[in-house]
Amino acid sequence: MPATVAVVGVGPLGLMALKNLKEDGFAVTGFERRNWVGGVWKQSFDANLSTTANTVFNSSRFRSAIPDYPFPDDVDDFPTAKQLWKYFEDYCDHFELRPRIRFGADVKNFERKRGKWAVEYIQNGSLHTDYFDKLMIAPGSFVTPRSPKLEGVEAFQGKILHSLNFPDPSTFQGQNVLLVGFHATAQDLVVELAPHAKKVYIAHKNGLIMMSRYGEDGRTYDQAQNLTAVFVQLFLETWLPSVWNWLFEKILLSMSKKSYPNQRKEWNLSPAPPPTTTSPLIADAVYPHLESGFAEPVAAIQQITGPKTIQLKDGRVLNNIDTIIFATGYEAKISYAPDEYNPYPIADEAPFLYRNIFPLHPDASVRNSLAFLGQGGIPFPGFVQFELKIWAISQIWQGKASLPSFDTMQQWHKDHMAWRQEVVRKSKFDSKFIIVFLRLPDHLKWLDKTAGTGILTHFSWFSWRSWRFWWQDRRFYNLCKSGLISPAMWRLFDMGGRKAWAGAKEQIIKDNEFADKRQQERLRAMGKVEESRKDK
Ligand SMILES: Cc1cc2nc3c(=O)[nH]c(=O)nc-3n(C[C@H](O)[C@H](O)[C@H](O)COP(=O)(O)OP(=O)(O)OC[C@H]3O[C@@H](n4cnc5c(N)ncnc54)[C@H](O)[C@@H]3O)c2cc1C
Ligand SMILES: *[C@@H]1O[C@H](CO)[C@@H](O)[C@H](O)[C@H]1NC(C)=O
Ligand SMILES: *[C@@H]1O[C@H](CO)[C@@H](O)[C@H](O)[C@H]1NC(C)=O
Ligand SMILES: *[C@@H]1O[C@H](CO)[C@@H](O)[C@H](O)[C@H]1NC(C)=O
Ligand SMILES: *[C@@H]1O[C@H](CO)[C@@H](O)[C@H](O)[C@H]1NC(C)=O
Repeated sequence: MPATVAVVGVGPLGLMALKNLKEDGFAVTGFERRNWVGGVWKQSFDANLSTTANTVFNSSRFRSAIPDYPFPDDVDDFPTAKQLWKYFEDYCDHFELRPRIRFGADVKNFERKRGKWAVEYIQNGSLHTDYFDKLMIAPGSFVTPRSPKLEGVEAFQGKILHSLNFPDPSTFQGQNVLLVGFHATAQDLVVELAPHAKKVYIAHKNGLIMMSRYGEDGRTYDQAQNLTAVFVQLFLETWLPSVWNWLFEKILLSMSKKSYPNQRKEWNLSPAPPPTTTSPLIADAVYPHLESGFAEPVAAIQQITGPKTIQLKDGRVLNNIDTIIFATGYEAKISYAPDEYNPYPIADEAPFLYRNIFPLHPDASVRNSLAFLGQGGIPFPGFVQFELKIWAISQIWQGKASLPSFDTMQQWHKDHMAWRQEVVRKSKFDSKFIIVFLRLPDHLKWLDKTAGTGILTHFSWFSWRSWRFWWQDRRFYNLCKSGLISPAMWRLFDMGGRKAWAGAKEQIIKDNEFADKRQQERLRAMGKVEESRKDK
């Protein structure tokens, strides 16, 4: 009898988990409280978190596909929410996952009973309990809305809401709207408000590095990172982390300046917190609205001083504000996790998990049968790192790889927390809500080894596998090392754990050709823009 696995939450990550675990021989069941797969990528029009009509993914199709499920040709360079949702729906059917998913099933509790996981859920209005050998929780990273307290809020007579409850944007016809917080959500809201509102202010505490989707060479920004660059980063970040952080920030700032030379000083976007604590914003959607003056970054809110009046930290006073919308993000809390297994015993702290996946629980059978997905990873574009995590979990659950001792797991967590504190201290910014990145060299090496992808050993300068590969197929080796990091690359090698994908090599070559074709189209389009400017 195959081991049974429950996957709670069938967003992108839960789907990928179902597919891979099923392939590895587990008997899988998915629980999804909504009636669709793909999680936030379908606009839900209710008070539940979802993308808006115009949300666009922030890394390119070339880096973001699931390793053995390429995007169809008609998907944009940066997939729209609609395209992504369709992609996940198709993925679900292609791998025949739908019959394994219970829709409208809301998991309310899970606990250990006689060596199994008892999963309690409400479906069709009644409570059910099913038992599983293994349990994977994939609830999404953005769960509980976070709304800061505003001083003097009683005086305000306009509306105050969180982006989670953003209604039909025509509600804001002719209004002055104040957004609190400036990142991806604020950008999405500006785009939604543009056809309706009169003016949007964006109150923000810290600066922000804005980046463009494309480089000057017509390639998507994330293609600037090839495998050679990854190895350079691994080396520097391991041995000279301060040098790497300095260099990386410098590169981002210079890219930002090149793409957006007209950033105004009054916006106070600079100095910005470093990329170690705050990811840059891919700002193509919001920038035109900043330039036109429709949306204006302003200082953080000091206090509310009247029915429609707000005083900012720099002394400026905004009058006639009709609505305040918090774009201040979410807490990654898992409300239905019992205390014993709750990865967030302290709110807004990094998860109490080994490698942000496995519970630090004294019982070895718990550590080896419970896993959390989507609780923060490394700064690496697309969905690949989550697939690698799933492979790693599956290898461990199959007994082909193993977790270290409990002591080692606890020590890892201590070291990780100490490192994070150091990163925050060095950033010199108020970073109470810093993102939960893991340290890239440590995490990528662990993933590569545990998931059995063989990337580091097949491309490192110091490994015989790498030299053998180079000798056997120089052209392809070079394409892998200096071309696009195609997601299919992670399925290229058989290291004895997982099977490689027979179509991987062909897909990598195709991905490179397709990226080149899109680059040429882009360059032609950019050329045309310049022509028409000259004509004027
Ligand atoms: C507006 C917006 C823009 C984003 N843009 C980007 C981007 O550009 N790039 C990027 O990398 N990421 C982006 N993200 C992050 C996004 O969360 C991930 O891309 C991806 O959706 C994560 O997948 P997931 O499966 O972990 O989570 P989700 O997509 O959130 O899916 C989780 C699923 O679990 C279900 N669920 C949760 N709890 C239960 C329960 N108890 N019982 C049953 N079902 C449950 C939910 O209904 C949901 O369907 C964005 C998120 C939002 C909201
Ligand atoms: C959406 O949110 C509403 C209100 O918060 C809640 O009652 C409902 O259960 C949620 N629906 C889903 C499908 O999660
Ligand atoms: C709930 O209802 C759906 C149809 O609406 C049905 O397919 C499903 O089996 C029911 N589930 C349970 C647990 O009764
Ligand atoms: C790969 O990355 C390295 C290091 O950043 C860079 O020097 C090189 O030009 C890149 N190669 C290609 C083909 O883009
Ligand atoms: C893209 O969005 C995700 C989720 O919001 C975030 O973690 C990541 O850092 C973003 N990447 C960039 C380059 O902005």
